[in-house]
Amino acid sequence: MRSLSFPWVFAGTLIGSTVPLALSLPQAQPLRDRSNSANVTCAGVPSTFPTWQQLPTQTTLPDPFLPLKYTTTDNAGSAGAATFAQSVMTGQGSHRIQTSEEWYACRQPEILTFLQEYQYGYYPDHGQEKVEATRSGTSVSISVTAGGKTGKFKATISLPSGASASKPAPVVINIGGMQNQPYLGAGIAIAQFDYTTVAADSNSKTGAFWDIYKGRDIGVLTAWAWGFHRTLDALNLTVPEIDASRVGVTGCSRLGKGALAAGLFDTRITVTMPMSSGVQGLGPYRYHAMSGQDETLENSKSGAGWWSDSKLGTFVNHAENLPYDAHTIAAAIAPRALIIDQGTGDQFTNSKATAVVVYPAAKVVYDWLGAGDKIGMSVRSGGHCDMSGFTSVLPFVQQIFFGTKSTKDYTNLGTYGPPMTTTYPWASAVPKVS
Ligand SMILES: *[C@@H]1O[C@H](CO)[C@@H](O)[C@H](O)[C@H]1NC(C)=O
Ligand SMILES: *[C@@H]1O[C@H](CO)[C@@H](O)[C@H](O)[C@H]1NC(C)=O
Repeated sequence: MRSLSFPWVFAGTLIGSTVPLALSLPQAQPLRDRSNSANVTCAGVPSTFPTWQQLPTQTTLPDPFLPLKYTTTDNAGSAGAATFAQSVMTGQGSHRIQTSEEWYACRQPEILTFLQEYQYGYYPDHGQEKVEATRSGTSVSISVTAGGKTGKFKATISLPSGASASKPAPVVINIGGMQNQPYLGAGIAIAQFDYTTVAADSNSKTGAFWDIYKGRDIGVLTAWAWGFHRTLDALNLTVPEIDASRVGVTGCSRLGKGALAAGLFDTRITVTMPMSSGVQGLGPYRYHAMSGQDETLENSKSGAGWWSDSKLGTFVNHAENLPYDAHTIAAAIAPRALIIDQGTGDQFTNSKATAVVVYPAAKVVYDWLGAGDKIGMSVRSGGHCDMSGFTSVLPFVQQIFFGTKSTKDYTNLGTYGPPMTTTYPWASAVPKVS
């Protein structure tokens, strides 16, 4: 169960070729052990990904249960565009996913595929990479070779007292720094790498990732995600005091967007911890101005276009035609754990909408999959990237790593009050759990 690859994409059988209508996606996807599940036939992603013009304008969060193929406007028939959009938004679309088997075999891989197409760029095939690492004290040197090219970077580690090869500690890998002491005190190791050595936060295409993959249309958030994963590979190779099967990933703001991508693209990540992450993180594209300030698809794309692939740019001024929103990204991580932190004083990253729109909409899917306790929302006082966010989410992380029941209620949205259910109307029509 190594990191994900997308064989049906890279095999060249899907993109740019004719695909039968009832295409069945290969079952090789190692998202979950499927050996005991019934056979499932998937709708399959369209052979050509729809453009914004071919997708309905959805003013509310898209229905996570409706396959992309049945979301496109050519399904409208005689109903007309507005009626079709209304039915799609309210969970009345036809051919929705009906069972958790279909979710894991069809819909979750489909979401991962179209997120790479529309936003992240295609994650490199880890099967083609050779990872080597050496350790010297608290420093781990990482070298990745693929296609005759090599990229190198370093990570540092801090171990909690008592960690040993026979009693290995879980680890949180971070970029940009975090509050180490409470974690170390709780028996959790910390690893960190300098994200700029993996990929600069600019258009310069410098760093270990680009030393190997320069020329590809991949966003820097994906490059940072790759940095998390290769750090985990290296820890697993050289630090026996760390338990590589209990792993958290975190970062704040743009680095929170990167941590979210890290959790999304590798099933080895046990708990994903995006802090103050905003748009292209867990701030929604829709409902973007609910906290007074306004990070949007438009200004994130013009301010830091390198975070995503170029395709996302084609949706600028058409964000409501995106067939997904931040809740879709969160839901695709299920059933693995996700804890979201936002400060009520943080207006720019739209803390309110993350809490009352995105989190509860994603939780509908987690609940439906029987994993409702694996997603949590930490609404705390304070602002953008306050270190207090790390202590705020710690009891959740301890529950995931050690099974120690958290006394803190991560469904409580504090002063924001109840979820805004009108923003995800399909939730009143979730498929019957089978
Ligand atoms: C799935 O289908 C194959 C081929 O038809 C069959 O051999 C297999 O037993 C089926 N598995 C299950 C779990 O139904
Ligand atoms: C760690 O390495 C071992 C041996 O290669 C492998 O079986 C295991 O899956 C790896 N664990 C992680 C979390 O990568």
